[in-house]
Amino acid sequence: MNTLVVGFVIVFMALCVIGCTELKKDLPPTGGTLAVHRSGWTDSTSSNFHGTAIRNANWDMMSCQTCHGSKYDGGIVNVSCRTCHNQSAGPEHCTTCHGSSNNAAPPRDIDGNISTTFRGVGAHQKHLIGGSISDGVACSECHSVPPSVYTPGHVDSPLPAEVPMEGYVATTVSNESTTVDWDSSLAVFTPLPSYSPVSATCSNTYCHGNFKNGNTSFAPVWNDATGTQAACGTCHGDTSRATLAERARPKTAAEGGTHPSSTACSACHGDVVNASLSFVNKSKHINGKLNVFGQERDF
Ligand code: HEC
Ligand code: HEC
Ligand code: HEC
Ligand code: HEC
Ligand code: HEC
Ligand code: HEC
Repeated sequence: MNTLVVGFVIVFMALCVIGCTELKKDLPPTGGTLAVHRSGWTDSTSSNFHGTAIRNANWDMMSCQTCHGSKYDGGIVNVSCRTCHNQSAGPEHCTTCHGSSNNAAPPRDIDGNISTTFRGVGAHQKHLIGGSISDGVACSECHSVPPSVYTPGHVDSPLPAEVPMEGYVATTVSNESTTVDWDSSLAVFTPLPSYSPVSATCSNTYCHGNFKNGNTSFAPVWNDATGTQAACGTCHGDTSRATLAERARPKTAAEGGTHPSSTACSACHGDVVNASLSFVNKSKHINGKLNVFGQERDF
């Protein structure tokens, strides 16, 4: 009799345990109490860090949406990514994996580098923010810019980043003429800008001199941070000459070009520079347009 009762109790308890286990398996994990992730998941110094896991999965974080929600704002586990990734697009925001609060361009680069001597960082901010000689250029001058993280061509290809340089300024065409006459063109400079990830140099860009009377063979090094590559005379003119105006002056007849030999630059380019060759309107310099005699035009 007693044996029978004990037997029933054992069977009942066993059923209960199996049942409860099955029930638990079906339940979504409860936030905070159940460790669904490995230890170190939120510690950026750990090899188990969630950012590293996403990186190792070819940047795929869409699997996280199953539990954390399609907008990463909690989902069935009610644990939001946005408590930490608080920008508008959450963890898919453009500065999650590269860039800073200034913009999405490095620094920092994909590997976390900050110094401009790293090719992933290079002269990005010099180009974007501009300085004394220009207002800078947009990302789209050098890259095709993805509207979202999973746009084809973005995270699906291995480093180095693609730098096709297909923007308006980078590909500006200028015509060569024997006289100062807009229409009598003899040769056409069609920049075919290219970036070499081997030497980290840019060649044939309009911006750096591949235009009429410019220094067509100048190939600046992307991660040379010495600042010498944007001196007067690098893109047009000759850095070895004595005065600033002589250094900046494009090729004249004496050098096989067609530019006037006068060094009174502001007399004809007064919209851009003043008599001491400071820029009065740097937005008109390196903008793909020629500013001369008070006009802005193609050349
Ligand atoms: C507790 C705070 C916190 C939460 C919650 C959080 N993250 Fe992060 N995440 C971080 C930190 C910190 C970094 C590293 C930032 C850095 O390196 O500067 C990071 C980095 C990342 C990176 C960049 C990886 C890389 O190598 O560049 C991705 C992608 C990412 N998180 C996705 C997510 C997703 C998706 C979620 C939600 C499912 C999430 N994070 C939730 C704090 C958090
Ligand atoms: C099976 C469901 C599930 C999936 C899939 C999932 N998580 Fe979680 N995650 C949870 C739960 C539950 C918690 C809370 C309990 C815990 O911390 O373990 C959590 C917690 C976190 C936390 C800590 C949040 C905090 O504020 O401390 C981060 C960060 C995180 N997840 C990131 C991710 C990332 C990144 C992915 C995708 C690679 C991902 N999770 C996929 C269920 C999931
Ligand atoms: C999940 C991480 C991640 C996020 C978020 C992210 N990127 Fe990227 N991005 C990368 C990686 C990795 C590369 C390098 C890809 C390669 O090698 O071509 C890259 C490269 C780029 C490049 C260089 C051109 C290229 O495709 O190689 C641009 C421009 C860029 N990202 C813009 C953006 C913009 C804009 C956003 C927001 C819409 C964004 N990124 C969000 C990881 C990310
Ligand atoms: C003047 C041209 C230029 C402009 C403008 C530019 N980039 Fe780049 N970008 C490059 C070059 C060159 C590389 C380096 C390729 C290599 O690794 O050799 C690069 C690499 C990158 C990388 C990959 C970094 C890594 O870790 O390797 C990202 C991400 C990126 N750019 C994003 C951007 C974004 C976002 C913008 C605009 C906010 C931008 N870039 C503007 C030329 C440019
Ligand atoms: C990074 C390359 C680069 C450097 C460095 C550079 N220029 Fe230019 N410059 C150009 C380009 C490209 C043009 C062609 C017209 C345009 O797009 O603005 C130009 C045109 C000019 C013009 C004609 C007016 C116009 O249309 O812009 C003047 C004047 C001029 N530059 C002065 C200078 C002076 C002075 C310096 C040194 C302080 C200098 N440049 C350094 C690239 C450069
Ligand atoms: C007498 C007027 C005059 C003076 C002075 C002058 N320029 Fe020009 N510049 C022009 C004209 C005209 C063009 C357009 C030539 C063409 O396309 O036919 C031009 C074009 C340019 C270009 C584009 C390349 C080219 O040759 O087409 C640059 C760069 C430039 N000038 C810089 C300078 C600088 C720097 C100085 C001072 C050293 C200067 N210019 C002085 C009239 C002048």
